[in-house]
Amino acid sequence: KWGLQTKWLGQTVVFEEVVDSTQDVAHKTAQKGAEHGTIVVTDKQLKGRGRRNRIWASDHAEGLWLSMILRPELSPFEASQFTLFTAVSLVETLQKLTGLTIHIKWPNDLYIRNRKVCGILTEMQAELESVNYIIIGFGLNVNQTEDHFTDAIRERSTSLSLESNRTWDRIQLLQAILEDFETNYYKYQQEGFSYIRKKWLHYAYKLGEEVKIITPHRSFFGIIDGISADGALIVLNENGEKEVIYSAEIHW
Ligand code: BTN
Repeated sequence: KWGLQTKWLGQTVVFEEVVDSTQDVAHKTAQKGAEHGTIVVTDKQLKGRGRRNRIWASDHAEGLWLSMILRPELSPFEASQFTLFTAVSLVETLQKLTGLTIHIKWPNDLYIRNRKVCGILTEMQAELESVNYIIIGFGLNVNQTEDHFTDAIRERSTSLSLESNRTWDRIQLLQAILEDFETNYYKYQQEGFSYIRKKWLHYAYKLGEEVKIITPHRSFFGIIDGISADGALIVLNENGEKEVIYSAEIHW
């Protein structure tokens, strides 16, 4: 069944039924010298984590919990662009397969209507100017029903299944995701971030709309205007001036 049509992505798979976090397994695997494109997959995570040290609920086998080990030629500054690239690639595959309309909330959460369906976590091991390896983890809610979510989580989360009223074959999804990712990876390498940026804007959530922006320094209401050539968020602040935001949470 696993007829994966890729050259390097997912050709080595580390699968464990239960782990604390696939990110941790991936770090260990990478440090032992795992090759570019090795993936770590699990059914259940006991300590799945999200950005800003948040918990990522994944102690059930209904989602896709995965970390990819990549060894791109990249400066540490370009790593955030790489995450935006991952979001774009995921949206394209998922829209194609499910027919659902999916948007990207900056920097890289995937949303269906008003709820999050997928989160991406990028971690890297870098020395001065170069990246040794990068681990891109994503959690995709696939077959969860209402019962799998607490009320608080359900309020802001959804699954492919809840949005489409059917279940999805996780292996088939995984295969398509990996195949598209690899194809897009070549295009990204050839054409650079401008190619991703255009696509990202096409899928952007709340573009031109007012949101609350919480940066490490202040919070304010602003209008999402786009992303810069290096992947930062551009907003129009209270005074109508453009501001470039590198780190923030967006709320509405
Ligand atoms: C976020 O939305 O903050 C990112 C969530 C990332 C979750 C995935 S699930 C697979 C991998 N292992 C983890 O512990 N986290 C990521």
